[in-house]
This record gives sequence, C-alpha cells and structure tokens, in this order.
Amino acid sequence: MDNLASLRDQILSSVAEAATLEDLDQVRVSVLGKKGQLTSMMKSLGGLAPDERRERGQALNAVKDDVATAIDARKISMETEALNAKLATEQVDITLPPRPEAAGTIHPISQTMDEILAIFSQMGFTVAEGPEIETDFNNFTALNIPEDHPARQMHDTFYLPEQEDGSRYVLRTHTSPVQVRTMLGQKPPIRIIAPGRTYRCDSDMTHTPMFHQVEGLVIDKATHFGHLKGCLLEFIETYFEVSNVPVRYRPSFFPFTEPSAEVDIGCSRKNGELRIGEGDDWLEILGCGMVHPNVLTACGLDPNEYQGFAFGMGIERIAMLKYGIPDLRTFFDADLRWLKHYGFVPLDVPTVTGGLSR
Ligand code: DAH
Repeated sequence: MDNLASLRDQILSSVAEAATLEDLDQVRVSVLGKKGQLTSMMKSLGGLAPDERRERGQALNAVKDDVATAIDARKISMETEALNAKLATEQVDITLPPRPEAAGTIHPISQTMDEILAIFSQMGFTVAEGPEIETDFNNFTALNIPEDHPARQMHDTFYLPEQEDGSRYVLRTHTSPVQVRTMLGQKPPIRIIAPGRTYRCDSDMTHTPMFHQVEGLVIDKATHFGHLKGCLLEFIETYFEVSNVPVRYRPSFFPFTEPSAEVDIGCSRKNGELRIGEGDDWLEILGCGMVHPNVLTACGLDPNEYQGFAFGMGIERIAMLKYGIPDLRTFFDADLRWLKHYGFVPLDVPTVTGGLSR
C-alpha cells in the first residue's frame, strides 16, 4: 500500500510540474494510457486472490480518480493562464484619441445659410429653390420691373445670348424670382425661404460678381406688416444671438413691394469694434415689404383675395457682421488659412435649440 501511496504522490507531482499542455498529456498517457503505469497495474489484478484483488482494485481506482482529477484541474488552470496571457497582450488602449482632427471646415457661407434655414424652419417656413439661369420674366417682369424700368440698370445684369424668339435668359440678379416660381407653382398659404447664388456684373471691396442671397415670402389672406415685423425681429434676435436688439424700418423703394422698407439694427462701433444690439449707430441688414399687387397678379393670384410680405438679404453681408469678417472678396479666395480661421467644425450642425454657432 505504501508503495501505491508513493506512486500516487510521484504522479501528482509530475502533474504539478508539467509546464505545457503537451507535457501534461505525456504524463496522462504514461499513467492512464493503454500502456500506462496504472492501466498495467489494473490489468495485473487478475492474478490476485479475490479478496486481495478487490482491496487492491479499490485502492488503484482511488489513485486513478485522484490522478484524473489532478490532470483535469491542471489542464483547466493552464488553459486559463494561457487565455489570460493572450488577453493581456491583446488589450486595446482606449485612452488613445480615436481619430486625427478633421482637416476641413465648413465655409462661413454654408454655416450662415444653415443658421438662417434653422431659424426659419423653426417658424414653419419650407425651403424653396430656383435655377441660377433664370428667364427675364421671372427675374424682372413678373416682379413689376418692366422692360424700360430703371431698376434693370441698377442690377448690372449678366445676359445670356438672345433666343430665336427674342427672349433672353439672365444669371439671376437676386433670389426674388423664386417668389414668382413659388406663387405660380403652389396655392397659398405660402411660407418659403429661398437661399442661393446670385450674380451681378460688379466687383470691388463690397461687391463680387457672384454672391448669395436669401429670400423670404409669406402669402395668405390676412398677413400684414405687423407679421412681417414680428417675423424679422424673431430672426434678427435668434441669428445675432442677442435679445432686445433695436430695429428700425426705414421707408425705401423696391418695385416688387409696396410699402417697402430697409431694416436697420442698432449697433455700436467703439474702438473699431462692432457690437450688435447696443449703442446708437445703425446698420442696414435687409430689404422687405408687402408684396406688390402687380406681382400677385403676374403670378396668377387675386390681390383682392391674397396679400403677404417678402424680404431679401445678402448672406455674405450678415455673415460678415456676425463673424467680424472685414473683406467680402476673401469669401471666394479659397485661401486655406482663411478657411481654417473663419471656418466651422464639420458636423456641428446649427439648430435653434442646440445652438446656432459654437
Ligand atoms: N431683391 C432685392 C435685392 O436684390 C432684395 C429684396 C428687397 C427682396 C425687398 C425682397 C424685398 O423680397 O421685399 O436687392
């Protein structure tokens, strides 16, 4: 029996000493395999007397069980160790920055357009668009600017070659033709905002041949100048992110509105710094008015039934005012240093509730 106990201890210690799964398997084969030590001892039981055989058999079985259990346990612990070692080497360092900083920026024009659209969408306006190559009728005639009207000269129009029938296409000089397209295309009530490119043959510090405007139009049966004022006040305060901005409606002339006004906002210009919403200076930001009955008629609406208001503004201009950009021409220079400086973070989409400009 002593013999068996020491054999058991010997086997258990070689199980404990096995350094690899292969070593362990070798121990298993040499002890429990077909020709293994314990297997052979089991086989030799047949030559013993029955009593002795039973006793010896039980003792051998106990040793066999102990060895099998020890091998299983050792195997599991070796596998766990190996897995842990593997996991340790495959660890991901989540403290690393996920991506390099984005190289591009959103152009101030795109940002400003998105801000304007966010504000007017919130007020229930939908976005309308029109082509940049426009008919003379939509750009002028339907807007109450007939052939011989001096306003045509004011617009420094780019004309396309005359058509066979004598009509001419123009590069639209303003976004107002989208008013015409909208009224011709849908029934009131109308509430649209139309941003886009516009063109005039003009170039200096404050003019570029291509620039951007946004047009607004509201038409229904009971809209009046008070609605125009409320709507624009809401826009101005949200866009410039200041409350209680002084606003002034200065009588003006546009052929397509009557009465017409230019809107000025209060500002101060101390030490060369422009501050919106305070001080006793004024800054012109847009043109507006009640849609002229001739325009309604040209667009197939009865001025005795419908009325409404319109407004139009230059996007570069209000971007320059909000973001302190001094020169209009730099918008179109495609200078990377300028874009880095004045551009906006991509994906930081402006919303009225989440913040317009951050
Ligand atoms: N179309 C005008 C321009 O380009 C801007 C404008 C003024 C638009 C008054 C309007 C308006 O809709 O009512 O100068």
